[in-house]
Amino acid sequence: MAPSLKDVIRQVKEQADIVAVVGRTVALHKAGNSYKGLCPFHKEKTPSFHVVPSKGIYHCFGCKAGGSVIDFLMHTERLEFIEALRDLAKDLGIELPAAGPRSGPRDGDEERRRALHSVNDFALTWYRANLTGNRHPVASTYMEKRGITPELAEKFSLGAAPAEWAALKTAANAQGYSDDILVEAGLCKRHEERGTVYDRLRNRLIFPIRDHLGRVVGFGGRRLAEDSDDAKYLNSPETPLYHKGRTLYGLDVAGKSIGDTGYAIVTEGYMDAIMAHRYGFGQAIASLGTALTPEQARLIKRYASRVVFLYDGDDAGRNAMLRAGEALLGAGIDTRVILLPKEDDPDTFLQREGADALAALVHSAREYFDFALDIFAKAEDLATLAGQAELVEKAAPLLNAMAGEAQRAAGLNRLLTYLGTLPREAVLRTIQRISAEKRPRYEDRADEPGPPQRAPLDPTERFALKLMLESEKALDVLRAELDVSWLSDARLDPWILFLLSHDGEAAALIAEAESAGALPGDPALLPEILADAHPLGDPALAARQIAARLKKRHHKKVTRELIDSVREHYRNDPAGLPEGILRMIHEENRLAVKVEVPRSGL
Ligand code: UTP
Ligand code: MN
Repeated sequence: MAPSLKDVIRQVKEQADIVAVVGRTVALHKAGNSYKGLCPFHKEKTPSFHVVPSKGIYHCFGCKAGGSVIDFLMHTERLEFIEALRDLAKDLGIELPAAGPRSGPRDGDEERRRALHSVNDFALTWYRANLTGNRHPVASTYMEKRGITPELAEKFSLGAAPAEWAALKTAANAQGYSDDILVEAGLCKRHEERGTVYDRLRNRLIFPIRDHLGRVVGFGGRRLAEDSDDAKYLNSPETPLYHKGRTLYGLDVAGKSIGDTGYAIVTEGYMDAIMAHRYGFGQAIASLGTALTPEQARLIKRYASRVVFLYDGDDAGRNAMLRAGEALLGAGIDTRVILLPKEDDPDTFLQREGADALAALVHSAREYFDFALDIFAKAEDLATLAGQAELVEKAAPLLNAMAGEAQRAAGLNRLLTYLGTLPREAVLRTIQRISAEKRPRYEDRADEPGPPQRAPLDPTERFALKLMLESEKALDVLRAELDVSWLSDARLDPWILFLLSHDGEAAALIAEAESAGALPGDPALLPEILADAHPLGDPALAARQIAARLKKRHHKKVTRELIDSVREHYRNDPAGLPEGILRMIHEENRLAVKVEVPRSGL
């Protein structure tokens, strides 16, 4: 029988030479049973980073980084869990179990992805050659006019698409790439009636979009004909490789600088990010005109925990930052906002004012929540109760999204300064009510249809799963107190059952299940649940409350069923139903539902 993923993880941890793996990046010296060196995760002059080969772990006494050999690779090479595992397993000659049918790449998928990567690589080289070979003088002139140096063009692998309808298609076909793969990669489109295949990007400056590991996943193109009605920018559609909600433009180039400086600069467009690099801001990446998703927030967090937004100075740019930042609060990212003059975008500002002026704005950037409150407050008449209520309604989703309790409390105080004499308790209650009703949305530019409508998830069970995913303490409480017979939501329950029936922390269990191709339920559910507002207060207490609520609900249901079945039994003989039994059932019902629900101290 093939080994399970758990076996492989154990084997890798046992067999990998952690001293050798760490030794590739850190100079280690033997000290007794362990090895010491300068910590790669924070700056230090005297070594406080230890590797203990007998236990297969590393630990830094300075910054508290620590873990197994797999964790070390994940953090130093910025790999996903499964990627790090695969690398180590390969070196050790250990085979990974094949993915099951439920999720994860199947054999056919793996091959298809390889084919898509290959055709993308081909397209990148081909677009690039058009530009460097000066086969597209208009593109070269445009680049020069915009101030993109050849070094920058090289760094971002910029290219050019000729104006012909099928130049890329013809070149790719000649190399053996089929029309089908070109269409699937989003490089070409198929004419709906005629069935002919043609290039998606024509007469455009090409910006390859790479994931954080540098793999080309898509392309963007800027219009070169200024007099045309075509969209100014066109991007790859969603493909098996490109998911715009998971990708950040430029992260492969900027990642190191983001890690070194401790923050990312997020611009809206390709040009602005590239210009920032030109002026020395190597930590600039672009969101490509969408609100950031929780997934993108977590991606940024692998590099740094601060983000500075740098969007256009006009109202559209400010509103875009307002939308873009919400998910970052949920990831606990310290989020700042730069307000450029109304008439500027980052590009024009840098060209006119220079790098020092932008550096000053970076340093004095406003906190995102303050910035948001200001925008909300300006839209309301705060002299009126209705205006104050409206402000609370608008601020609530942001407060609820904030990751830490201290941060939420501070945010609440900030909000109160706008509200004159409104009592804190009343505002807090409103915010908690909104947290139960509304969930933050992470909308994109509205040019795509939304997801199909489904029956709503059971809110109590939904909240239970949210707690289980986010708090190990809550998960432990629910493992002890929740009975699975109390559950009723067919879509949520497989996840809840799975987490209840295994030991360990949710994220690790899910990562394991995912790489084993054995996710218990619909994977699309998780990002949705993770995007829910964070629970206020102590998660363990919230978990006890949820367990009690589910128990009470279940008890009610069972009692009702019991009464119904007794009634049914006596349906043709109502007089036969002994009054005593009926009274007892009612009484039982009344008493039994009085399950104690723990109260929070709020
Ligand atoms: P902007 O219109 O602000 O781009 O859109 P820009 O950087 O100022 O463009 P230049 O300077 O005129 O070349 C910002 C981002 O929004 C997306 C793109 O990702 C763009 O970089 N966008 C914009 C589109 O996807 N399509 C469009 O038609 C316009
Ligand atoms: Mn611009």
